[in-house]
Amino acid sequence: MLQSIDVGPTDPILMLLAQYHADPNPEKIDLGIGVYRDHKGRTPILKAVKQAEAHLLKHEQSKAYLGPAGDPTFNTLVTKLLLDDQLTREPALSETLCTLQTPGGTGALRVAGDLIAHANPHATLWLSNPPWVTHRPIFSSAGLQLGYYRYFDPIKRSLDFEGMKEDLRDAAPGDVVVIQVAGHNPCGCDLNLQQWEELSSLMLDLNLTPLLDLAYHGLCTGLESDLLGLRVIQRHHQEWLLTYSASKTFGIYFERTGALIIHCKDKAVTQDVRQEALNLICGNYYMPPGHGASIVTTILESEELNQQWRKELNKARLRISDCRKLLTDSLNGTTAWHYRFLNHQRGMFSYLGLSETQLSELREQHSLYIGTGGRINVAGINEKNVGRVCEALKAVQRQTGG
Ligand SMILES: Cc1ncc(COP(=O)(O)O)c(C=O)c1O
Repeated sequence: MLQSIDVGPTDPILMLLAQYHADPNPEKIDLGIGVYRDHKGRTPILKAVKQAEAHLLKHEQSKAYLGPAGDPTFNTLVTKLLLDDQLTREPALSETLCTLQTPGGTGALRVAGDLIAHANPHATLWLSNPPWVTHRPIFSSAGLQLGYYRYFDPIKRSLDFEGMKEDLRDAAPGDVVVIQVAGHNPCGCDLNLQQWEELSSLMLDLNLTPLLDLAYHGLCTGLESDLLGLRVIQRHHQEWLLTYSASKTFGIYFERTGALIIHCKDKAVTQDVRQEALNLICGNYYMPPGHGASIVTTILESEELNQQWRKELNKARLRISDCRKLLTDSLNGTTAWHYRFLNHQRGMFSYLGLSETQLSELREQHSLYIGTGGRINVAGINEKNVGRVCEALKAVQRQTGG
């Protein structure tokens, strides 16, 4: 049976990581994998997380099964962190909300995909072009048909909002639109308030359901301002889904911590949707891992740890914008002109728009590892490597003349 297995393509990010690890050059630079890095290139554990773990070590009483919805306290705290106060405080409103703890943002996306495929097997799920590379396999595995809307204009190197609206007009009623809330991966271009309002009314007119993906909360413009798009959708839509990743925001990547929040029209629908989501989870991973959620819960429940975490997150956010400036200030001549758009983008990623030839040249000649299409993790740039990054970018630009 297994001898003739049909092998699909390897995840490009994991492939890049393997190539990076295999490179013997001690000066190699990884701008590919999407983890936050400090000025020394490390992905540190936050002090707030360490303190929360120390607290758990002392006070945790049991590791018994939690159930498919995960920890109810985690679910309540994450809902409060993300949603408008009014929605979480008023019992009538909160009855139309359902939050489930998931294994990372990826787990939340997959449960959302399974739920959509179950509720409307004919729905097309619309992804940005370019999408986060993992969106495609997650939703295809859920059996959904995929469509793409223009998002990034490779010539202007900015958001193509007109293209986005034009493409979404081809969607059929009942289709779902995946929109990243803040720090778009891979482009670093987000919608502004007016664009969110316009997109929201377009989706209402066309009867499309928004599926918001939030993986960089607090790392773009701030914990509250990164939720701008979510607030617009909350205000105007009765039916929406939100997938949340705690991986970057709390720096707990391998703890696999996230949540799926679903808002439905009324209480009865919410109860049915919740029950079916739990059934789908039982048929998949049964229940989410507990440790990451316990860390987040401990931090959000403690005034002191909450403040500490906010301080550390803000520092990381400011470092990311400093990294953009460091890169653009260090480039000169035509290369500086070519990459000036980097300063207008936000979050951990930017999209350099590099060809496969340029990317392999960067890997083979300069030991510089950059993701598909030229996605760079801006946080990977530091004082020590910025000179070599600039030289390498200049060299591939010279060779291809573009
Ligand atoms: C846009 C986007 N969504 C979701 C995720 C999922 O994050 P995780 O599963 O690591 O929590 C990521 C991670 O890179 C992402 O970039």
